[in-house]
Amino acid sequence: MKVDVLLGLQWGDEGKGKVVDVLTPKYDVVARFQGGPNAGHTLEFEGKKYVLRSIPSGIFQHGQVNIIGNGVVLDPVLFMEEAEALRQSGIDLPKVLKLSKKAHLILPTHRLLDAANEAAKGAGKIGTTGKGIGPTYTDKISRNGLRIGDTIAPDFKDRYEAAKERHLKAMAALGSEHHPQLAELEEKWFQAVEYLRQYDLIDSEHVINRLLADGKKVLCEGAQGTMLDVDFGSYPFVTSSNTVTAGACTGLGVAPNKIGDVYGIFKAYCTRVGSGPFPTELFDADGKRMRDIGHEYGAVTGRERRCGWIDLVALRYAVMINGVTKLIMMKSDVLDDFDVIKACTDYKINGEIVHDFPYDVDGLEIEPVYVELPGWKTPMSEMTSEAELPENFKNYVAFIEKELGVPVVILSVGPDRAQTIVR
Ligand code: GDP
Ligand code: IMO
Ligand code: MG
Repeated sequence: MKVDVLLGLQWGDEGKGKVVDVLTPKYDVVARFQGGPNAGHTLEFEGKKYVLRSIPSGIFQHGQVNIIGNGVVLDPVLFMEEAEALRQSGIDLPKVLKLSKKAHLILPTHRLLDAANEAAKGAGKIGTTGKGIGPTYTDKISRNGLRIGDTIAPDFKDRYEAAKERHLKAMAALGSEHHPQLAELEEKWFQAVEYLRQYDLIDSEHVINRLLADGKKVLCEGAQGTMLDVDFGSYPFVTSSNTVTAGACTGLGVAPNKIGDVYGIFKAYCTRVGSGPFPTELFDADGKRMRDIGHEYGAVTGRERRCGWIDLVALRYAVMINGVTKLIMMKSDVLDDFDVIKACTDYKINGEIVHDFPYDVDGLEIEPVYVELPGWKTPMSEMTSEAELPENFKNYVAFIEKELGVPVVILSVGPDRAQTIVR
């Protein structure tokens, strides 16, 4: 068996959580492979809404195994909060969720360091989610990190103290020396580390490969989006992990020849939260309408999401990097009332047409080249089959398929699990 991967093709918040939940009944296992509580994956069904940060979106369907893979960074405190909220909703999480021993831990000082790094960058700040993601992955790569599996080591506390001392020194060098809340944060953190013990702490690479050998179907759930990938995104305005398909290999221990379908998910328009380039960003009434109708506010931080037209230059790039085999278009209903829909097919930079996503889009004067298509001016949220969809909408989808060279297999017309049209 091979694994299928579902990941975002834009700057995150494409609707990954919703679709993973929709697809879960076809799978035996759902596994997160990177990122951490910077993610906010929203699911809606039966009149209820849930936002998941570290926990895979497969937990609400029955019988599946959910795994937090080695590529994820875990904040025990936020994990405990998330898990307890789910327990209140009747989910027996320790039964359905397993944690990789190799996943790295986010320490309280990682979060403080994230804030200190941002403050030091001033106007050039990344606009991170403040969850300690960058500093935790920095420690992982510089071989200083602490992993879930280390929590049972006799010298765990010493290693924690050593990491903390290093972080305090780094913060002092950035002019951040007083941390009155640290003792309280640490106390909670150690309690939350204890809380992790009720979970199966596993060698997830062995477990997943064994499940595959037994013929089980595995869906790998991405967080963030391709344009936030540390290698291929709009660097340095990116997150600190590989959000692309290759991240599923390193973040779960799945070999490249075990990758099956790659579901690439995108919105019918485009959003971004945090700083950094966004060539098709709108500052006009259309952008505001997208934000209002699409409720484009961050699931984690509540920040306003920047909105703009679909960017096919960036999407072509994302399809290429990820080897996308199936596309999923979300939030189509948000554009229901627009007279004209625009799609950016190329960039114009210094008077030249640029077709391929360039090395650096930051600081460049980029003029998006748009194709205009007529809007469908029909509410689609209640539609449940392709036959009902308006012609102009189908034309928009066909245009995107032609531009990207990959079929769109799922169309989403509302936030609820039921508002999904599978083609
Ligand atoms: P994720 O991080 O990729 O899982 O996406 P988020 O949950 O952060 O953001 C997607 C938002 O759009 C959530 O509030 C979803 O409830 C909502 N949503 C998902 N699909 C649709 C859709 O087709 N139409 C509308 N109107 N909202 C949607
Ligand atoms: P989901 O999984 C949208 C953005 C932040 C910031 C940059 C770096 O819900 O799609 P970080 O805290 O990761 O160091 O922040 O990445 N960012 C996201 N934007 N959706 C997300 O996750 C994001 N996770 C991080 O806003 O610009
Ligand atoms: Mg999100």
